[in-house]
Amino acid sequence: MSEELPRAGAEAPGEILYSERWTIRGGDFDHGGEVAAAVKSTLRQFAVAPEVIRRLSIANFEAEMNVIMYAEEAVLELQVLPDRARVTLADRGQGIPDIGLAMQEGWSTATPEMRQRGFGAGLGLPNIRKNCDEFAIESTVGVGTTLRYGVRFPL
Ligand SMILES: Nc1ncnc2c1ncn2[C@@H]1O[C@H](COP(=O)(O)OP(=O)(O)OP(=O)(O)O)[C@@H](O)[C@H]1O
Ligand SMILES: [Mg+2]
Repeated sequence: MSEELPRAGAEAPGEILYSERWTIRGGDFDHGGEVAAAVKSTLRQFAVAPEVIRRLSIANFEAEMNVIMYAEEAVLELQVLPDRARVTLADRGQGIPDIGLAMQEGWSTATPEMRQRGFGAGLGLPNIRKNCDEFAIESTVGVGTTLRYGVRFPL
């Protein structure tokens, strides 16, 4: 299954100015948010506009926590292009049976333990889509989920 907003397609590889990858481990709540923080530092080094960093960091944090809660392992790749920063986050895990449902605000399969930690409002995926100019999600049950999202730089 998949769902896309416009502009989530592939660009010529020559446009990529910089890329970097981080690994996220499922269940690793103790380090939750560290990859989003590392991406933020990288973007600051590139003097990316604060508003772009803010929006992408919200998306990265939500996506990272979803891997920790619902997947086994993932690689997050940041790409900086001349006109935008974008992220591909591919996980190995249970996958999402119904993406339409998962994208609905308030829908969550979080466990009571996760809710005790303050997660499970069912707002993570909708927040990623809201904060990004491009967004796509694909998932195969029993295999994993891939998110692609990005934020354009202001003119
Ligand atoms: N990477 C993933 N792998 C498998 N299932 C996922 C993944 N990401 C999200 N889901 C499923 O989609 C649901 C909705 O995700 P979403 O991030 O919107 O909310 P949540 O994680 O449940 O709560 P919140 O993000 O508000 O803490 C999750 O409850 C889970 O069932
Ligand atoms: Mg979430």
